[in-house]
Amino acid sequence: MQTLTIQLPGRSYNIGIGTEIVDSDLPQAVAASGTTHAVVVTNTTIHNLYPNRISQSLSGWQGRVDTCVLPDGEGYKNLETLNRIYDFLMDVQANRKTLLIAFGGGVIGDMAGFASATFMRGIPFLQVPTTLLADVDSSVGGKTAVNHPHGKNTIGAFKQPVHVCMDLAFLRTLPPREFLAGYFELAKHGFVHDAKLFETIQAGPLVNAEYDYRANEAESREFWEATILRSCGVKGKVVEQDETETGLRATLNFGHTLGHLIETHAGYGAYLHGEAVGTGMLFAAYLSRKWEHLQERDWSRIRDFLVPRLTPIVLPALNTKSFQTLILHDKKAEGAGVDFILLHKLGAGFIQKATSVETLWPVFQEFVAEFPEVCQVV
Ligand code: NAD
Ligand code: GLY
Repeated sequence: MQTLTIQLPGRSYNIGIGTEIVDSDLPQAVAASGTTHAVVVTNTTIHNLYPNRISQSLSGWQGRVDTCVLPDGEGYKNLETLNRIYDFLMDVQANRKTLLIAFGGGVIGDMAGFASATFMRGIPFLQVPTTLLADVDSSVGGKTAVNHPHGKNTIGAFKQPVHVCMDLAFLRTLPPREFLAGYFELAKHGFVHDAKLFETIQAGPLVNAEYDYRANEAESREFWEATILRSCGVKGKVVEQDETETGLRATLNFGHTLGHLIETHAGYGAYLHGEAVGTGMLFAAYLSRKWEHLQERDWSRIRDFLVPRLTPIVLPALNTKSFQTLILHDKKAEGAGVDFILLHKLGAGFIQKATSVETLWPVFQEFVAEFPEVCQVV
């Protein structure tokens, strides 16, 4: 197992990364937290695949473990489902020392994290991510949220976990489509901050919509452990410098302005978050080249990496008004402008402040005309 520490004043924590580590790493972290009560938050899919997996791994621990099982899906990442976590915590008489354990992908991590930030004004929380996306992105850095019908992740809080137990053995059951969605967020860290990471990914296993982690595990396990560690390191360094996104951290939202628009407009769950971000990154790279920040060579590398892997997105009845309204609901919007993340070069993202939404729509139309296989407005 490798350990990465995220250094934050008074809130530092370790990420344990390895394969089949949950039975050793998790009990240690839970014991170190000093609590006597843990509540696992998970969903029906994970609960069926791994029934009572967390309580089993904590069987030698003296404390009590309760499990709250939520419905599965981005469509449930809302205040109503969040309320079910609060109800459950009240039912099991949770107190301010109860440790909330998020056992799942980004949806579970974001909801359990937000519940832990708000229940009794804050209780400790620990992440056991089970998707590639949660490994490389959502379990690290303390962003937690639920969606509002008009805006993705618009209700949330910053809440760092006390520990992240990243056991890659859970990836064995992850469907290929979900794996690919996480792969886009992994590539994002290469695009905006680490060109070498991007090169490593390109030289690694060929990941596409058929890639099966379990079938390829024997020969690629070391690659994934090292690459996920590196990606967490990239994100961790950014979070250490700008935990609450006053500046630098916004670069991690590369591809998210269009990505969030796609998710909100198409309906939460119609496309996976990573898929929407993948298309959003292609658009952001396209803009970067069009506005002469990014050289042709880097643009081609990004385009050639993304286009064959992207899920075709269809956006019904999107027009200039709905496009602008959705963009201005984004958390990065202010007035009539949005902070748009662009690239100077591969590995160097930057924030273009107050990018006018009026300038974005015509370029978006050009983009869909040039890449109909990637995105269509019908
Ligand atoms: P997800 O949590 O919906 O998980 C994807 C699907 O895979 C679900 O159906 C889930 O039940 C299933 N699943 C999870 N683990 C599995 C496993 N091991 N085996 C089989 N099936 C499994 O989606 P996600 O892609 O993990 O996360 C997306 C969410 O993360 C979005 O809501 C996004 O906004 C959020 N996010 C948050 C941050 C952050 O910094 N907080 C960063 C990126 C994304
Ligand atoms: N996923 C972007 C961030 O955590 O800042």
